[in-house]
Amino acid sequence: MSDQVQHATRPVEAVVMGTPVRRLDGREKVTGQARYTVEQSAGPEVPGDPLHLWLVTSTIARGRVTAIDTSAALDHAGVVAVVDHTNAPRLADTANGELAILQDDRVQFRGQIVACVLAETSESAREGARLVRVVYAAEPHEAQFRAEDATDRPDEVNGGMETDTTDGDVEAGLAGADVRVEQTYATAYEHNNPLEPHATVAWWEEADGRPRLSMFDSTQGVHSVVSTLAPMLGLEPDQVRVRAPYVGGGFGSKGEAHAPVMAVCLAARTTQGRPVRLAVTRQQMFDLTGYRTATVSRVRLGARADGTLLAIDHQALSQTSRAREFAEQTAVPARTMYAAPHRRTSHRLSRLDVAVPSWMRAPGEMPGMHAQEVAMDELAEACGLDPIELRVRNEPATDPETGKPWGDRRLVECLHRGAEAFGWAERPREPRATADGEWWVGTGVASATYPASVAPGNAARVTALADGRYGVAIGAVDIGTGARTVLAQIAADALGCPVEAIDLEIADSSLPAATVAGGSSGTTSWGSAIVASAQRFRADHGDTPDPGVHTVAAAAEDSTRADYAHHSFGAVFAEVRVHRYTGEIRVPRLHGAYAVGRVLNPATAHSQLVGGLVMGLSAALFEQTHRDPRFGHFVTQDLATYHVATHADVLDVDATWLDDADLVATPMGARGIGEIGIVGTSAAIANAAYHATGVRVRSIPVTADRFI
Ligand code: MOS
Repeated sequence: MSDQVQHATRPVEAVVMGTPVRRLDGREKVTGQARYTVEQSAGPEVPGDPLHLWLVTSTIARGRVTAIDTSAALDHAGVVAVVDHTNAPRLADTANGELAILQDDRVQFRGQIVACVLAETSESAREGARLVRVVYAAEPHEAQFRAEDATDRPDEVNGGMETDTTDGDVEAGLAGADVRVEQTYATAYEHNNPLEPHATVAWWEEADGRPRLSMFDSTQGVHSVVSTLAPMLGLEPDQVRVRAPYVGGGFGSKGEAHAPVMAVCLAARTTQGRPVRLAVTRQQMFDLTGYRTATVSRVRLGARADGTLLAIDHQALSQTSRAREFAEQTAVPARTMYAAPHRRTSHRLSRLDVAVPSWMRAPGEMPGMHAQEVAMDELAEACGLDPIELRVRNEPATDPETGKPWGDRRLVECLHRGAEAFGWAERPREPRATADGEWWVGTGVASATYPASVAPGNAARVTALADGRYGVAIGAVDIGTGARTVLAQIAADALGCPVEAIDLEIADSSLPAATVAGGSSGTTSWGSAIVASAQRFRADHGDTPDPGVHTVAAAAEDSTRADYAHHSFGAVFAEVRVHRYTGEIRVPRLHGAYAVGRVLNPATAHSQLVGGLVMGLSAALFEQTHRDPRFGHFVTQDLATYHVATHADVLDVDATWLDDADLVATPMGARGIGEIGIVGTSAAIANAAYHATGVRVRSIPVTADRFI
């Protein structure tokens, strides 16, 4: 992109933005025309019929592979090859202990990839994998997470943030408080379960005397797969091409390349150019594509009798893997949420011989705000205050973490508007005050927040086409959110044309650079680059350009933006019914009111926010991966045992938002919406369950046995 320029952006007038344009890929999806990764087969895009890969995974938690007998597997009809640490291609860089697979005989957790079987059919590959005999020398391992063992301080927590923060003197603040809440909160191990499991189809070719790796991958970021894998494989980025035209959901597990992608790249290196296809099984995803670690939060709040906070202390404890460090940033939202002169946050890890944790929708905010917002409910009760009033009294004038003014903090408005719509005022103050037949009935509230970021490193290309049409290209990925549609809307307004005049190309790493569909930063980051390119294009070529002229630009860093603290906010209201005799818990109503900047497409945005609320409901009531304490691996490995909310659990769930346009945050006026829906939701439900029953449950999932 030698002609790429940095371009300062001006706000874009909303004409197409803000309207419910139908999903541009809706027809392809509902008619089955949309081709997902495992459906890529020999044709113009894929040079040959793919071999099928099946993963062989370790049965010990720590130790060495001493022998691999592949003879029975190789004798099986259809099996072509077995790739293991003795014959796998060598990587140029093995620093990433999760991705540097098949390089030596070490086993770092149960479920690690130790061999790959290649065969003509999926069935042969699977049977071949069963026939591979792996002999291990097991070594003593530690795989049981105990909060008291979480004493290691990571260098930083996820997102590159500080591990610990201190302002004022928390102990003095607590000592001087009239009211204190000191409790421990816990969240469960959780796993990403997108409808489409992880999958990759990859092949190697020679081009201009250099190897070239191409793949289709079910990923949230094509460029990030390139930038992660290329150096490990000893390639320049231009030697790797990744495409993800359709992705059947991604909640963070597809935000980073995980070991199965590397398995395909290594195996495909051995096939003389024949493509290799891997469909990771749902079971294997539980060990190999990341998970949200269980968290324990020790929270201490100290307040004056009127509820104003003097001290906030949040100590977050979780596990990580010895194979690769990942530190869930659980205490981070406590740094910014409420005003208090004395504050402290910290993160500590227990390093174990277990699978590698990673991102899952709102890492940090989700478990951290669960703890904080149940604690705030407890504080409201201790102070004899309405939970909304307690939050209003602790509203910070500026961002407590940075001291910067808020770009657009409208939490109090969300609380009040949401309360009115929900009918909060009729709520009795006392718990266990309302019964309906055999059901206790209660309501609860919690706040939500999520940072509003715009990632650097995005660029877009605008090309004039015939008949007043424009080509717009960026390597963004639509993981099912509606990004394809919303980016076309942004492009239309930035170029001053109807949305039908935009030919949008995305999801290919050969297009201008795009950051990952993650951190609720996809639309804001990609959209800002499209706006920058469109404005630069119009400045250079006017509004009647000659077909063929084009501009590639990246959004320039906005110095005004950096003067403010940018976060989205919301208020979640839940009604819960708990059965008096069985403890069965139902959520008949779940409403979120949000301040997220301009909503670019009310149809897709509503789905995103409701989807987040449903995932929060699912976490509150069901989601929990159980481990075998002997080996630390996950025994809950399918949707029969890992329970997610179903239609019958999702009743009146709705999301509304304040009319808004945050033109300091982005030139579109929008902030991200992908994650805030899950934040605070489990706390609102747990608080409502307390209000219904008088039983305070401080860990999720909140299951029936807790009430009887
Ligand atoms: Mo999300 S966990 O940033 O994909």
